[in-house]
Amino acid sequence: MKLSFFLISFCLIFLISCDLIPSRYPGKRQGDPAAPIMIEMHGDLLCPACAEAWPTMKEVLVHYGDKVVFYFHTFPLPYHTASFHVSQASNVIVKLSNNTLTYFWRYLDDLYIQSLQQQYWNDKIATLTDTEVVDEIAKYISSNYPFSYTDVINGMQDENINMDTRVAWKFACARGIYGTPMFYINGMLCSDIGSGSTLQDWEKLIDGLLA
Ligand SMILES: *[C@@H]1O[C@H](CO)[C@@H](O)[C@H](O)[C@H]1NC(C)=O
Repeated sequence: MKLSFFLISFCLIFLISCDLIPSRYPGKRQGDPAAPIMIEMHGDLLCPACAEAWPTMKEVLVHYGDKVVFYFHTFPLPYHTASFHVSQASNVIVKLSNNTLTYFWRYLDDLYIQSLQQQYWNDKIATLTDTEVVDEIAKYISSNYPFSYTDVINGMQDENINMDTRVAWKFACARGIYGTPMFYINGMLCSDIGSGSTLQDWEKLIDGLLA
């Protein structure tokens, strides 16, 4: 009797303890949270299909303007071995931008549109050590953004930034995300939308919701 009471209490405590509640809704936001349509993209920064999807995603955001709030969630896939570092770097950029996102979006464009992601693909980094990969990332950012190499390297080792990077990953896992890109509209998974989707495909889903 006593033992079962103890076990039940223990399980309840385990169930209600939730030490990873993020302090804000996760993701990098563009737009007004009160907008009627919320679009979320889970993207691996080294994923070619995400790079393919990104120009259309941007087109959709311009097309719908203030009717849409957008959240981007980094989801580093384990088989892209440098991806966690690059996700961490994207959060370092946010931190060094004093939590503004202009340079974050520019980094996403560099990775997805300017093909920067290819520099960190598995075959490109095969002969590099982990430290050398981080060094490459920091060199790129400090040469192309107004942040010093030292600040970037320190950020790559910052435990709070590391936790932000993990939270984005855990948030996606908690939702059942297993690949990228994956999209949500108003909290529902949209498996119809993928890397090859066009603005017209998005319109088919969204216009009806706004009618
Ligand atoms: C962030 O804040 C620091 C300290 O106020 C300032 O030196 C730096 O220029 C700011 N950086 C950006 C990108 O706004």
